[in-house]
Amino acid sequence: MLARDVFRVLSILSPFIFSAYGVNTLSLLEKPIFEAMYQFGDSIADTGNKVRAIPHSRCGRPPYGQTFFHHPTGRCSDGLLIIDFFAQALNLPLLDPYLDKNGNFTHGVNFAVAGATALNVSTLAAKNITAYVSSTLLVQLDWFKSHLKAMCSTPSECKQKLGKALFFAGEIGGNDYNYAASQGKTMEHLRALVPEVIQTIMHVVKELIDLGARRIIVPGNFPVGCMTVYLAEFKTDDTKMYDELGCLRSWNEFAMFHNDQLQTAIQDLQEQHPDVAVVYADYYMALASILSRATSFGFEEDGLHKACCGSGNNDYNFDSSKMCGSHGVPVCPDPNKRVSWDGVHLTQHAYQLMADWLLQYILPTNNNVRVA
Ligand SMILES: *[C@@H]1O[C@H](CO)[C@@H](O)[C@H](O)[C@H]1NC(C)=O
Ligand SMILES: *[C@@H]1O[C@H](CO)[C@@H](O)[C@H](O)[C@H]1NC(C)=O
Ligand SMILES: *[C@@H]1O[C@H](CO)[C@@H](O)[C@H](O)[C@H]1NC(C)=O
Repeated sequence: MLARDVFRVLSILSPFIFSAYGVNTLSLLEKPIFEAMYQFGDSIADTGNKVRAIPHSRCGRPPYGQTFFHHPTGRCSDGLLIIDFFAQALNLPLLDPYLDKNGNFTHGVNFAVAGATALNVSTLAAKNITAYVSSTLLVQLDWFKSHLKAMCSTPSECKQKLGKALFFAGEIGGNDYNYAASQGKTMEHLRALVPEVIQTIMHVVKELIDLGARRIIVPGNFPVGCMTVYLAEFKTDDTKMYDELGCLRSWNEFAMFHNDQLQTAIQDLQEQHPDVAVVYADYYMALASILSRATSFGFEEDGLHKACCGSGNNDYNFDSSKMCGSHGVPVCPDPNKRVSWDGVHLTQHAYQLMADWLLQYILPTNNNVRVA
């Protein structure tokens, strides 16, 4: 029952499925069950891969994890992430990271790695952009293929299993732009990266479909102009550069530029695969709508863009040379009152609200299923 409702959502998120391909998709919709989830991506979804590859990485140090786990897990937040709230809503266990030797992968795997890019490290290097994490999206896809070998022995057996799973292909690509922006690339350079980033994401989605995936969520980018790190980095006295939420217009326009191209690519792919649901998840609107009603959710009005964990005596409590997890960097008294956890990632409270926003499309009638 739950899964059927979930499926209804997917179709609401992608009304196109029904309108253009009603018959085929409906037959798919009638018997969906989510027995597993598979996540590809970066720090927005990493539940502990990066910290296993690089034990001293920042998200593996206190105060990360303080709210929910009371110790760091490698999640880049004070607590749970969007993917964790989806797991809870679907009555699945939290996804273990692929690199966890003791991981239980009965109900899926998390391949996301903090800092990962969509494009290969070598591809970025050829554009004079240094990426710091080798486990890029295509490497994560290779991990998935290795995992499949352990999970099923024939293509049809794999297809049968994967057909009952929910896939998250992203958010990914944000770091390609983050690295470029922090290495002095212009907005024009960044825009030039977008088609290749989208192509890589869609290549992975296609491969997943070929392997047997039938329900794939493809998240877009955040409104990066509202992210503390961008606000601090590109701070200006020119008030015209900011929108009504205090976000940088040009960076939000850039995020929309990526998101528009991603949605077009999703629609094209959906047309080619009417029997599969490829669903855009609007992380941009999810966060923007939370920011626009922030005080009603208990966020501090004057701290809308201020990092909870950070240093720097400025509007943003952010100093890239002394970030959260470094020695002596303080934490705000109540992370639930902040949207930004460390200037780059959001608090559990903000992620929970984003997940709620996304799930309201996915579980519109299921009032009794609530995230913790
Ligand atoms: C893995 O998790 C499943 C349920 O989520 C459980 O039934 C199984 O016993 C677990 N396996 C191990 C080895 O802990
Ligand atoms: C990117 O890396 C993958 C393997 O991880 C490789 O198969 C592919 O050829 C590379 N692509 C480019 C453009 O370098
Ligand atoms: C590469 O980027 C660096 C800045 O990160 C810059 O100093 C250098 O001129 C760039 N080189 C080329 C060939 O664009």
